Amino acid sequence: MAAAVLEQGEDAFRKIFRLYRRRSPPADLAEVLEFRPGEPRLRSVQFGVGALSDAAAARVGLQPLSDWSGYNVDGFQGFLFIVNPFLPGWQHRWVRQCLKLYPRKPNVCNLDLHMRGAGDLWDGSHAQLRRKSSQRRSEKKTLLEKLRWVTLGYQYDWDTKKYYKEQRSAFPVDLAELSRCVSLACGFPNFKAEAGILNYYHMDSSLGIHVDESELDHTSPLLSFSFGQSSIFLLGGLSRDAAPTPMMMHSGDIMVMSGASRLLYHAVPRILRHPGGGVLPPCLSVPPSTEDTSPLMEPCSPPDWEVCEAYLRSSRINVTVRRVLEEGGNFPEEGDRAAKEGTPGDAYHTEDPEMEERGGPKRIRPGQD
Ligand code: SIN
Repeated sequence: MAAAVLEQGEDAFRKIFRLYRRRSPPADLAEVLEFRPGEPRLRSVQFGVGALSDAAAARVGLQPLSDWSGYNVDGFQGFLFIVNPFLPGWQHRWVRQCLKLYPRKPNVCNLDLHMRGAGDLWDGSHAQLRRKSSQRRSEKKTLLEKLRWVTLGYQYDWDTKKYYKEQRSAFPVDLAELSRCVSLACGFPNFKAEAGILNYYHMDSSLGIHVDESELDHTSPLLSFSFGQSSIFLLGGLSRDAAPTPMMMHSGDIMVMSGASRLLYHAVPRILRHPGGGVLPPCLSVPPSTEDTSPLMEPCSPPDWEVCEAYLRSSRINVTVRRVLEEGGNFPEEGDRAAKEGTPGDAYHTEDPEMEERGGPKRIRPGQD
C-alpha cells in the first residue's frame, strides 16, 4: 500500500481519506476490500429462509432471497454488505426514479432556487444529455449534471443538521417498499422508511468524513443503495482516531449499517470507473426489463434509459434510507431542540476542509450551487 503520511494535527481517518482521494499518483487499491468469496476478513451471511417472499422481492426488482450473497466484515458488528441482489434489467428502473422522479417537488434538492420557474430538471436536461452522449463533446453542464442531493420524507435540514416534524413530504412508496424488503431480509421487520438522502457523484466527487446521527432512532439500520460507477467507501470507528477500512462498492450493492456500526465514521473519498472496461458496469449494460411485473414502478422506457445511460457514464448515485423516529417516539419540544442545535458532533455531515479547498463535491446547502 502506498505510504500515507500523517500531517500535523491530522487524524487517522483523514490520513486514509487523503490517500484514497489522491489522483496523482493514484493510490494502490490492493488493500481495498472486495466483497467476494475467499476474502479472509469476510463472513458469509445466511439470510433467514422465508423472511422475504420471492413475490415481494420481485415487485421491487430483487432476486429471490435464496440467491443473495451477503457478508459481515470482521471487526464491524452490525455491518452487512449485500452484493448486487437486483434482478437483471431492474437497476435501470431505480436509476430512472433517482434522476427523473425523486428530484421533483415536493422533494427538496440543491437546485431548487435555480429551478424556480425553470420547469422540471429532467425535462430541461434530457435532450442535451442524449446529444452529449452521441456527440461526445463537452457542452455546458445540464441541470441534471449539477444535481448534488435530493432529500425525501422528513427533509434533512443542512443548516441545523436536524429533521423537523413539519418539514416533511410523502416518502416515495416504491423506495419505501424496497427498503422494507431489504430490512425484512436482514432481520429488521420494524424498519420504516421515513427519510432519504440521495447523493449524486461525478468522477471528481467525494463525500467528507461524517457520522449519520441526526436521526432520533439509532436502533434501526441505515440502508444504502449504490448505482452507476464504483466507489471506495471508508468505514472507521467511533472516533476519527481509528483508521478506516477501505471497501469497494459497485452498482447494485447494498450496505446495511446497524447495531455497533450504525454510528461509525464513514466517507467516500473516490469515485472509480467500474472494473471491466465498458462504459457502464455489466449489470447495467443489459437492456432494461420491459416486463411490467410490478404495480409499483413502470418499466424504464428506452428513451428514458438513453438519458440515464448518458448520465451514468461518469456518475454514481447513492440512496440512503433512514428511520427518524423510534416506535411511539416524537420530536423534542422546541426548547430542547433549540438547546441542542449546534452541539458539536451532531452533524450528519462533517465538512472536510480539504474538500472545501479543492472545491470537491461539497454537500451544497440550499440556496447554493
Ligand atoms: C455513499 O455514497 O455510499 C455514502 C453516502 C453517505 O454516507 O451518506
